[in-house]
Amino acid sequence: MALPVVVMISRQELCFDFDAPVERRGTGSLKWDRYKGRDVIPLWVADMDFKAPPAVIEALKERVDHGVFGYTLPPGELVNVIVEMLEREHAWKADPQWLVWLPGLVTGINAACRSVGAPGDAVMTTTPVYPPFLGAPALSGRTLIAVPHRDDGARYVFDFEGMEQAVSGGTRLFLLCNPQNPTGRVFTREELMRLAQICLRHGIVICSDEIHCGLVLDPDAHHVSIAALDREIARQSITLLSPSKTYNLPGLGFSLAVIPDRDLRMQFRTSMEGIVPHVNAFGCLAALAAYRDCGQWRSALLDYLRANRDVVESFVAGTPGISMHHVEATYLAWIDCRALGAEDPASLFERCGVGLSDGRDFGAPGFVRLNFGCARSTLAEALDRMETAIRSHAG
Ligand SMILES: Cc1ncc(COP(=O)(O)O)c(C=O)c1O
Repeated sequence: MALPVVVMISRQELCFDFDAPVERRGTGSLKWDRYKGRDVIPLWVADMDFKAPPAVIEALKERVDHGVFGYTLPPGELVNVIVEMLEREHAWKADPQWLVWLPGLVTGINAACRSVGAPGDAVMTTTPVYPPFLGAPALSGRTLIAVPHRDDGARYVFDFEGMEQAVSGGTRLFLLCNPQNPTGRVFTREELMRLAQICLRHGIVICSDEIHCGLVLDPDAHHVSIAALDREIARQSITLLSPSKTYNLPGLGFSLAVIPDRDLRMQFRTSMEGIVPHVNAFGCLAALAAYRDCGQWRSALLDYLRANRDVVESFVAGTPGISMHHVEATYLAWIDCRALGAEDPASLFERCGVGLSDGRDFGAPGFVRLNFGCARSTLAEALDRMETAIRSHAG
């Protein structure tokens, strides 16, 4: 590695052992099986290599022991826990009726595209962005308007002028990702307010994917739900949430939409009817345990991820040819490799044993996305390999 980094270990972090490697090969892991039989460290798709919190594992074991797996209703306590969490963490007083259960958040993005406007209308988003944002509009016969983020030298920011210019009469929906995947931005209240004002002025519904909101790493960055800004914005919003990223439960298929406006909620439900399955028993119980019982685990996780992020940022800062901005949230680093002059940076790193996400899929060729939600020893080995890849390319 280019730079030695001193990693501080907090007391909380010691209570949960994120350093203990978990063998994921042979468990049907999408992340690991992509490179089956090859010596490639997978740091691509957004799931972490850590075990779920002990309270989640306990809740699932208890459910397995019961042994009957019939059709399941989300428990009433889950509704209360989510409403409390929204008030505590998002300063948002939600009505339980606003919640719509979803078996996945991508389902929610697609349902939002289908439930607002009509085929032929446009959906706007900003790039780079999580690939399903780019694909969902076409799946419902909508056109995509992609406005690139501006790089202000320190952060990726919205290009408000670019958005105003790109809005057409048929633009009905804005897909927001906050915290942002892949840039790791946590948008400020001021940024969100300005974005909301543009959307309100043009009658555009905002679908806000906040799946990464539990993973804010910077103590002075605060997640703000755009719908919590004011009632008028809330009436024009669909907020998508899930415990899956924060508590590492993506294989359990549990998410939800929060839709304050009754008509919009009906349209959203109608777009799902007969196609979208119910949430499953394990997903509901895992979500309940995660939101209710795993605060300590989460803060220990954030300590661990913060230290991993610092390792990645030091490595990138000390390595010629690559650069990145500070990651405020998520366990994803968005690395600019354009100065390397490699035609396909993701393949260059893969050949040297590190599997990253290709920036092209996010609308940004020349970039790669690195998932640092793994044991620090795995990360260190991957960064060593990346350094070798860069040296071999330069030499
Ligand atoms: C911004 C964002 N939205 C949605 C998802 C996926 O959600 P799900 O697996 O619930 O469909 C991800 C996964 O990486 C993501 O980063």
